[in-house]
Amino acid sequence: MTADETSPGAQPFVPTDATGLADLRAGAARCQGCELHSDASQVVFGRGDAAARVVMVGEQPGDVEDRHGLPFVGPAGRLLRRAVDDAAIPVDQIYLTNAVKHFRFQLRGGRRIHQTPDRMHIAACRPWLVAEFAMLRPEVVVVLGATAGQALLGPGFRVTRSRGVPMPWPDSAPRAEDFPAGSAQLVATIHPSAVLRADDQETAYRGLVADLGVASRLIRASPRGALPAGRV
Ligand code: URA
Ligand code: SF4
Repeated sequence: MTADETSPGAQPFVPTDATGLADLRAGAARCQGCELHSDASQVVFGRGDAAARVVMVGEQPGDVEDRHGLPFVGPAGRLLRRAVDDAAIPVDQIYLTNAVKHFRFQLRGGRRIHQTPDRMHIAACRPWLVAEFAMLRPEVVVVLGATAGQALLGPGFRVTRSRGVPMPWPDSAPRAEDFPAGSAQLVATIHPSAVLRADDQETAYRGLVADLGVASRLIRASPRGALPAGRV
C-alpha cells in the first residue's frame, strides 16, 4: 500500500458545522489524517485571538510544543516572539499555527530528533490550515520558512527568492480557491529556527525582523486602520 492509501488526509476530520476555532481544535484532537498522529503525544493546533489580523504559519510542532500542546513555546518560539516585538507587531494581533499539526521525529538513543515533514504530510494536514483561515480571515499571512511556503504557495516556493516582499494571494497556487482569503496578503520569511542554526545569527535575526516589519506595515496601512496607540 502506498502512503496515500493509508492516509485519508485531515478533511474527513474537519467539522463541517464548526462555528469557532474551539470546534476546529476539538476536531484536530481526533485527527488521524496521516500517520503522524500515532507517535506524537498530542495535536498542536493554532493559538491566538479569533480577531487576530496576522496569521503566522510555521512548519510543525517541535519536541517542547508536542509536550505542551501549544505552538511556538520552545526556543524557536522565544526567538520569534522577540522578533515580533522588535518588528512592532502587537502580540495580541497574532495567531500562530503550523502547516503540520503533529510532531514528526525519529527516536535516536532515546532522544526525539525532529524530522522535516514530507510533502504528503503537508498535503494531508492542509485542510486544517484552510479551516483556520476560513475562521480567522487574516489580513496578513506570514509564511515562516519552506514547509509553510510549500503548503501555501506550492512546491516551487523558495524562501530566498520570495522573502520580505508582500505578495497578493496567489491565484496560481494549487487549490488556491480553497482559501477564502479575501484581501489577505502574504509575506514570506525564514523560519526562526534557521536563525538559531545560522553561522551569523545576528544578521539572520535582523533579516527576520526586517521581513516581519513588512507585515507590520501592511496591517498599519490596511483599511481596518492603525494599531492601538502606544504599540508602535
Ligand atoms: N517550529 C515550528 O515551526 N513550529 C512550532 O510550533 C515550533 C517550532
Ligand atoms: Fe491530522 Fe495533520 Fe496530525 Fe496528520 S499531522 S494526523 S493530518 S493533524
